Amino acid sequence: MPSSTGPAGRPVVVSVGGSILLTGKDDLGYLRQLAELLGRVGRAGPLVITTGGGRTAREYIDLGRGLGLTDVELDELGIDVTRLHARLLAGALGLPTPTHPPTTVREAVEALRHGSPVVLGGTEPGHTTDGVAALVAARLRAARLVNATSVDGIYDSDPRTHPEARRIDRQSWPEFLRFVRSAATGEPGQTFLFDRLGAETLSRASIPLRVVDGRNLVNFERACLGQPFDGSEVGG
Ligand code: UTP
Repeated sequence: MPSSTGPAGRPVVVSVGGSILLTGKDDLGYLRQLAELLGRVGRAGPLVITTGGGRTAREYIDLGRGLGLTDVELDELGIDVTRLHARLLAGALGLPTPTHPPTTVREAVEALRHGSPVVLGGTEPGHTTDGVAALVAARLRAARLVNATSVDGIYDSDPRTHPEARRIDRQSWPEFLRFVRSAATGEPGQTFLFDRLGAETLSRASIPLRVVDGRNLVNFERACLGQPFDGSEVGG
């Protein structure tokens, strides 16, 4: 097993999309294996994980919108669901991971001093857990951020609705930022590959972003450990 996750043991940050945490297809088996993988990576070096809200967050946000809740209230509903997922994964990881997810970037960084891995959900209205992961990564001067999602990389259009979509394996930060700025809306419950705040934060800090299919666990682990992997990389 590798002795460090990044160059000179630099921390690694992983953003697990809510869309892969609960798909309705063997979620229990997947969560068990995911916790084993992240436990291994977290013992090899400092690791912070954010968990998304996925379909469950969107269900609550849609209900709240129907009831006339404000955008900030909808975001807070979403944050609560991301924290529910963080609790679930933290419980599966066991000690030393705190079961009560840190509620700010600062608390997450502090918690990492006491043990790895640390799991958290969202923090502020108007953000997403990808953005939170990027802020944690910048604060920790992480070696990389791995975004584990439901597609196997960055495509020039949504591969779920555009069969002709082409995967872009390598991209520079300026190229990816142009793409993100033209696509993101910032509305509660929006789904986009990686959010604008996250992309701008990583670009400014020169931290590479790896995008992988989070259900392909062998490949996901390689991406976390800095090994060759199948997927897309920005700024690597
Ligand atoms: P997610 O991070 O899951 O966003 O947060 P997402 O874009 O739906 O991503 P996937 O599909 O899970 O990968 C769910 C919602 O919670 C609110 C936002 O409304 C977001 O869309 N949220 C989350 C915040 O307002 N702040 C946060 O820090 C995190």
